[in-house]
This record gives sequence, C-alpha cells and structure tokens, in this order.
Amino acid sequence: MSTMSVKRERQKADRDKAPVDMKGKTGFRVLYGYVKPHRLAFSLMIVCTLLAIAADLFQPYLMKIAIDDHLMAGKTDYRTLVIIGGIYFALSIGGLLFTYLQNNLLQFAGQSIVASIRKELFQHISKLSIPFFDRTPAGSLITHVSSDTETLNQFFTQVVLSVIRDGLTLIFILVLMWQLDVELTLYCMILLPIIALIAISFRSYMRKTYQLSRAQLSRMVAFVAENLAGMGIIQAFHQEKEQGKQFTGRNESYLKANLREIRTNVLFNRSFDILGNMSIAFVTWLGGMAVFDHKIEFGVLYAFITYIRQFFQPINAITQQWNTLQSTSVAVNRIWTIFSISPDVQDSKKPVEVGLPDVKGAIDFNRITFGYKEDTPVIRDLDLHIAPGEMIGIVGTTGAGKSTLISLLCRFYDTQKGSVTIDGTDIRELPQEKLHRIVGLVQQEPYLYSGSIVDNVRMFDESISREAVIEACRFVGAEELIAQKKDGYDTRLSERGSGLSAGERQLISFARIIVFKPKVLILDEATANLDSQTEQLIQSALEAVSEGRTTLVIAHRLSTIMQADRILVMREGRVVEEGTHEQLLSRKGYYEELYLHSQGRQVSAAN
Ligand SMILES: Nc1ncnc2c1ncn2[C@@H]1O[C@H](COP(=O)(O)OP(=O)(O)OP(=O)(O)O)[C@@H](O)[C@H]1O
Ligand SMILES: [Mg+2]
Repeated sequence: MSTMSVKRERQKADRDKAPVDMKGKTGFRVLYGYVKPHRLAFSLMIVCTLLAIAADLFQPYLMKIAIDDHLMAGKTDYRTLVIIGGIYFALSIGGLLFTYLQNNLLQFAGQSIVASIRKELFQHISKLSIPFFDRTPAGSLITHVSSDTETLNQFFTQVVLSVIRDGLTLIFILVLMWQLDVELTLYCMILLPIIALIAISFRSYMRKTYQLSRAQLSRMVAFVAENLAGMGIIQAFHQEKEQGKQFTGRNESYLKANLREIRTNVLFNRSFDILGNMSIAFVTWLGGMAVFDHKIEFGVLYAFITYIRQFFQPINAITQQWNTLQSTSVAVNRIWTIFSISPDVQDSKKPVEVGLPDVKGAIDFNRITFGYKEDTPVIRDLDLHIAPGEMIGIVGTTGAGKSTLISLLCRFYDTQKGSVTIDGTDIRELPQEKLHRIVGLVQQEPYLYSGSIVDNVRMFDESISREAVIEACRFVGAEELIAQKKDGYDTRLSERGSGLSAGERQLISFARIIVFKPKVLILDEATANLDSQTEQLIQSALEAVSEGRTTLVIAHRLSTIMQADRILVMREGRVVEEGTHEQLLSRKGYYEELYLHSQGRQVSAAN
C-alpha cells in the first residue's frame, strides 16, 4: 500500500470514528449545546428585534393614514399632522435604538460562543496523540482553528440575525399587506413559489462552488505553513523559484475557485433583484388600475409599494445567508469531526497510582514490536532490561529505530506487541501525566517556545520559582552563556528558539530536566556538529543531570557515551550488540567499525 493510500485510509478511519450524532446536519444540534447558556441574551435579542421591526414597519402605515385620512381627505388639521410626524420621528429613533441593542446582544452571545468553541478545539487538538499529527497536515489544523471558527462567527452574526430579523419582517409585512388589501396580497403570493424555485435551483451549484474554494484555500494554507516551517532548507537549496511556482499554481486555483463562487453569487443576487423590480412594476400596474377604478385608495397603494420593496429585501437577505449556512454546515462538520477524534493513545480506565518519589527507574522493554504502518515493523521483537540508575548509550545507523524506541517509552505511540514497563508497571497502566513526570525527554531538536528563557526552562509553570530556574541553569553550566544574552534570563526567545544555537537549546532543555526532576532521562542527541567547547559543556551537563537517574542517551558522537554503563548497538529495529565500550571494541563487530569510522572522521577533520 502506498503512503498516500494509507494516509487516506487513516483519515477515513478518523471520520468513521465520529459518532453518528456528530455527523451531517446534527452538527447544528451539538451547536445548540453551546447556545443554551446564552438563552437569555438570545431571548432579549428577539424582543429587541420585534420592537425594531415594528417601529420600521409602522412607518409606511403612518404615511398611509396621513395621506388617506388627512391629505387626500382635504383636511387641514396641522396639529394631527405634526403629531403623526412626531410619531414617525420617534419610531425612527426607536428603530435605531432597538437595532443597536439587538446587534450588541447578538454579537456578545455569538462571539462568546465562538470563543469558547475555539478554546475547546485548541485544547482538544493539543490532547490528541502524536500519530494524529503524523497524518494531519498542520495547515489544515490551522484552518480549523482559524477560518472554520470564523465561519461559525459569521453564522451567529449574519445567519441567525438574518433568519430572525428578516423572517419576522417577512411575516409582519405579509400580515400588514393582508390588512391593506387581500387581493393585491394574493397576487404577490404568486411570486413566492417562483422565488423558491430560483433559490433551490441555485443551491446545489452554489454549494459545490463553495466547497471547491474552501478546499483550495485549505491547500494553499497548508502549503504556506509547510514552507514557513522549512524556510531554511528551501533557501539553502535555492528552491524559492520552484516553491514559488507551486504556490502560484495553488494560488491560481484558489483565485479561480473564488471567482467562480462570486460569479454564481452575483448571478443569483441579480436574478433576484430583477425579480423584485418586476414585482414592483406588476403591483404598481395592478394597484394603479385599482386606484383609477376607485377600488383602493392612493395611500394604500403607496404603503403597498413600500411594503413590497421591503418584502424582497428580507427574502434576498435570507437567501444570501444560504451561502454562509452552507459554509457553516461544512465548518461545523469539520470542527466536530476533529472533536470526535479520540486520542490514539489513551489513559487506562483504571490507572495505577504511583507516588513520584517512590519511582526507582527500572525500565523493561518486553519483546516489543512496533511499526508506524501496521505491516512494516520498525522495532522487531526487541527485549531490553535496564536497571535503576543505569546509563545506557544507544548507537546505530540512521533509521535504525533509536528515536522510535524512546517514543515508545514516552508512549507517543503504543507498541503492537509486547510491553514497556517502568518498575514493573506497564506504562499503559500509568496516567500519561505521571509517565511524563517520570520520563524526561531532551529531543533531537529541542523545542523552545516564544517566551523568556525562564519561561522556557520552567515551561510556563509559575509554581517553579525563578531561583530554581537560575539554579538549574547554573547546574548544567548554561549560566555564562545566558549572561552573555542581552536581557539575561529574561531574554525573549522567538518561536522554535531561533536566536539560539543547537547546543544552547540543548543546554536549556537540560535545565528543564533539572527543574522537573524526572527519574528517567532520555537524550536524543542532535546530529548537528557542536564545537568542541559546547560539546564539552553538554558532556559535563549530561554527567551532572544523569546523576541518580536512569539515563538513555542516543548518540551520534561516540564520545558522548563512551563512559556509559552499557552501550547498545541498534540495526534495523534490533539490538545487535551490547556491552561496555571496551567489551564492544574487543568484539571487533559493528561497534568497532563505527568507532574506527568516527575516529577516522576526527582525524580527517583535524587535518
Ligand atoms: N512518524 C513516522 N511515520 C512513519 N515512519 C517513521 C516515522 N518516524 C520514523 N519513521 C521511520 O521509522 C524508521 C526508524 O526511524 P527512527 O526515527 O527511529 O530512526 P533513528 O534510529 O532515530 O534515526 P536517526 O539516527 O537518523 O535519528 C525509519 O525508517 C523512519 O523512516
Ligand atoms: Mg532519531
């Protein structure tokens, strides 16, 4: 099976994991759960809307009274006319006030709901297991957190508003028109099915164009995210042109999809406007004849024409929301698909409680087999037992499965066969939070966050004092280096710790270990060549932090692990040789080969 199809299979599996009630339209039902706490705000908003509409719609009626009962009737009662004018003015002010209130209430409720969904989504994503991130591009997750929640925002501020305001307006108008003249109203009603027909015929087409443009946007964002992450490589290999070309391709597809979507929208809206104008002409013609025949009064016709203008506006507004509704449906489904994915690696139902101070740090890999894909094992039937406090060095060719082995110990993935235990307890029985307090990992590329050095060492955990952080940095020998930085311990690091060298980043992550005091320490050494001074620093830092801890060091430079209690040589997912440095050398096997090779390199480097 190709990687692509495996990926697709997994994505499909993710989708299938979604419980039924989270799929399709019922996503909206889940949404209702979020609306519930804001019921009061929504009710108040509906009241304000009613008042605002009433204020708006009563105005033409007032004009009708002024025209028919006063102006056309030839009365010259200025007092009443002034009162009517006064009421008209008051209605305008009232309409404005209630519209303002209605908008604010809706914005408040809608934005709060979306903010809490965004928060929960982010929290949920950060709880998912590493395999999920292996198969989901970062760009598509960025889209979920940013634009999909933004679509929800539009749903509340536009769709809900329109459905309530325009829906009610429509009903009111129909009632008022009915009051004015039944026959004319009935003529207008003939238009309703035609309008519905046009709306429906455009629906499926608009949905397709919308989805297409979303998909293209998501592709483009994913591409940009990937490029930003790997900008160094792109520039080093002068791939800017090639990447630029690829971006242009994606950008153009998005542009085309977008234009098509907009064209469809415009076509739909224009057809609607034309329909509206034709209806007004139709009513004016019918009504005008009725006025000539003295069947209705002129004021009635005036009010009628005003209403029919107002009648089309809400219908148009509601059908325009169809688009947002479509996108909301897509966004809601995508968000809830993410929500319904449960972490691949889960805490046991009945976790074993262990007190952190009681942990000794004995580690056993009991005949484990693991592969990122079901059928291609990366670790094969590996059996390894490590005593508390032992220092283990792991070496091997690239791709031998060294990092994978420690990912299993950190339970980023679960083994397919066999078990990993700490002090005899299966790590699947340990709560993950506990496990990660027991096992401290310094990764191949230590990740630093935007924040100060202090924040990075204590991982934003305010319960750890600044003094403890400084103490830890001194302990690993990072003090001097930090003192050289502009703001010392408060020097702000940017994303990914840029601004620090690989060695400096490693030292900071050692200080993290000291601060968090894990019983087991794992170090995945970076392949990057460190200068001999930094190497010395790291070497002594390692000696300092490994004291009293079970330590696993994956090393590319053999000098790092020559002092280890035991060295394992890995090859194709198996431990092929093990022993101390001397024992391994005397075996004249693969380790000796590696050793001579590294010596040779040092010699040639020295020349
Ligand atoms: N997330 C992943 N998804 C799929 N395959 C992976 C993943 N990570 C690693 N592999 C594969 O698993 C094998 C072992 O990788 P691993 O990272 O454990 O090697 P390593 O011994 O740490 O190598 P290096 O010395 O280069 O760091 C490799 O063939 C690699 O391609
Ligand atoms: Mg590795």
